[in-house]
Amino acid sequence: LAVALDFSDARQALDLVDSLGDTCQWFKVGMELYYAAGNPLIEDLRNRGFDVFLDLKLHDIPNTVASAVRTATAAGASLLTLHASGGAAMMTAAAQAATAPGSPRLLAVTVLTSMDATELTGIGITDTPAAQALRLAKLARSCGIDGMVCSSEEVASLRTELGPEALLVIPGIRPAGAALNDQKRIATPESAIAAGASLLVVGRPITRADNPMT
Ligand code: C5P
Repeated sequence: LAVALDFSDARQALDLVDSLGDTCQWFKVGMELYYAAGNPLIEDLRNRGFDVFLDLKLHDIPNTVASAVRTATAAGASLLTLHASGGAAMMTAAAQAATAPGSPRLLAVTVLTSMDATELTGIGITDTPAAQALRLAKLARSCGIDGMVCSSEEVASLRTELGPEALLVIPGIRPAGAALNDQKRIATPESAIAAGASLLVVGRPITRADNPMT
């Protein structure tokens, strides 16, 4: 489990971390928190003994993304995301940058879990989310990317394609009956694990719960 620390300041994020005690080893720092708190927050989490998943979803020209990978390496994150739709040259440059000692493992975001087939059609992609996710996962793998972010709906086919060692990270996790918020391709924790997930990402069902521990 990686808990998504989607907060706008470090104090709120660390309060939640403290309230969870040692029940969670991985914390995900996304754009909202990273833009507010930056590398010192990552160092703080590392000093407390946690692993940091830096979810910056990089998507830019190859040189810029490779440079950002080097900056994130200095921060001490263990995982870093980039968008597979940035293309082969971008992912290859990122993978090369991530061969330096201490680099994070790279995860390619295939199709956002907030997107369904209608949303994909709106950006000119007429394939299903499952077909698009598989296409991007194969491309990312061929560029040397370590793992993928996809929805639970695609994890079984990506697992078959990429093998048992592939790191498959699944957001869009909702307990049965919970609010979907902006997520579309969702699953319960149980079904995502049964389908082959390596790591579940959970945000609001924990961070906005009256009691995050339950
Ligand atoms: O609150 P919720 O559980 O929906 O949060 C999901 C987290 O996972 C958010 O931080 C979001 O940025 C991230 N994420 C996602 N879909 C992806 C990749 C990352 O929801 N494809």
